[in-house]
Amino acid sequence: MMNDQAIRPLDLASVDHVLTTTRSVRQRLDFERPVPPAMITEALRIALQAPTGANTQTWRFMVVTDPAKRAAIADCYRRGAAAYVGGETGLSRTGVTAMREYEADDLRQQQREAVLKSGGFLMENLERAPVMIIPCIEGRFEQDDVFTQASMWGSILPATWSLMLALRARRLASAWTTLHLYHEREVADLLGIPATYTQAALLPVAWLKGGDLKPARRLPVEQVTYWEHWA
Ligand SMILES: Cc1cc2nc3c(=O)[nH]c(=O)nc-3n(C[C@H](O)[C@H](O)[C@H](O)COP(=O)(O)O)c2cc1C
Repeated sequence: MMNDQAIRPLDLASVDHVLTTTRSVRQRLDFERPVPPAMITEALRIALQAPTGANTQTWRFMVVTDPAKRAAIADCYRRGAAAYVGGETGLSRTGVTAMREYEADDLRQQQREAVLKSGGFLMENLERAPVMIIPCIEGRFEQDDVFTQASMWGSILPATWSLMLALRARRLASAWTTLHLYHEREVADLLGIPATYTQAALLPVAWLKGGDLKPARRLPVEQVTYWEHWA
């Protein structure tokens, strides 16, 4: 006999709403309202349903609420952000990760100012987020081939995104950030993260302030999709 759960129709409108309105929230993080630890655990439990290369499940999630630790992490983030903005970092010099300039009529140029303003706010206030989550994966793979790198990132980033979605569905906001990684070792030492693990991101988490979130404007799907042959 079919299990009722298996044939339960999905509420597509709700699923699509969560998928299209999970933003990088910075200025609307509620720094005052405490976040119940049980909600973080619940969202993490859902995130663990993400794919994991060879079923290794070598993901680990560092949850930080201690104010002194949050302040130290925010300090690393600020130094990373300052170096990034100043073009002093190796990767940003190659332009691969840089915040680029576009033609004036390009959507991304029109959004640039808002992203910089919001990013600047987070940079100045990061330690005020009541919870920080750092997803980690076992292994160091900087020197490895693309297969290995894709396998390792692919075993932690989908879970990280699922975590943001699960938080969002509970009206908890977060923001995908990476700038503390310029000082990854310092943060690892602060939190006791073993040198054999790689940190993938840093999510400040808080209750969402204000009204609902909206879908973002993105490049048209036709512009970024190829069928059968490139271009
Ligand atoms: C790999 C990656 C790294 C990011 N790093 C940062 C960061 O360090 N700080 C920050 O404020 N936003 C960071 N972001 C958020 C982007 O700026 C954001 O996703 C983008 O502006 C689109 O906005 P949205 O997420 O609200 O749709 C990062 C996003 C990604 C995917």
